[in-house]
Amino acid sequence: MSDQNPEVKYFEPPVFLSESEIKERVRELASRINEEYGNNEITAICTLKGSVVFFSDLLRLLKMPVTCEFLGVSSYGDHTESTGEVKVTLDLNEPLNGRHVLIIEDIVDTGLTLSYLLDYLKAKRPASLRTVALLFKPAAIKTKGLKIDYIGFEIPNRFVVGYGLDYAEKFRGLPYIGTLEG
Ligand code: XMP
Ligand code: MG
Repeated sequence: MSDQNPEVKYFEPPVFLSESEIKERVRELASRINEEYGNNEITAICTLKGSVVFFSDLLRLLKMPVTCEFLGVSSYGDHTESTGEVKVTLDLNEPLNGRHVLIIEDIVDTGLTLSYLLDYLKAKRPASLRTVALLFKPAAIKTKGLKIDYIGFEIPNRFVVGYGLDYAEKFRGLPYIGTLEG
């Protein structure tokens, strides 16, 4: 630690959505979800790793009993483009049959990941299956008729980082959402 070069300055991506904008929108999403589910118990699924920050902020605003599940997913291929081939890297712990399941997603870009996840989770026969996505890029969508029940922000087709989202595993801890492209 002490021998790190103090001259090194890390790049700070310009703010795209500020901490307070995110906080306000997460509150609005939570109040819609609270209204629509009432006191029905839900299973909230956090898709790792990108959704972890959104998941934990949203979770603390939900009023119904919530069971938390974590699902590790990664797209094959890399980095700034999804191939649509999704690999489950960490599976669920509990069966979902008869449960009201809410998928909590950081971002829907082409929609290929979410579309794969919906099929994967539907096969587990939940009582209901809904999705909340903090960010949605309508211009990037490649899947017809994809169902996103709650959307935080519709954003342009730019690569964003922070608030859980990474570029090459960096920037997940930024408290705001920044952009890497102008
Ligand atoms: P698809 O294209 O399948 O993408 O809807 C879903 C996954 O791709 C990653 N992704 C991003 N990650 N900034 C990121 O840090 C972005 O702008 C971005 N767009 C897509 C993310 O893992 C998402 O779950
Ligand atoms: Mg994701």
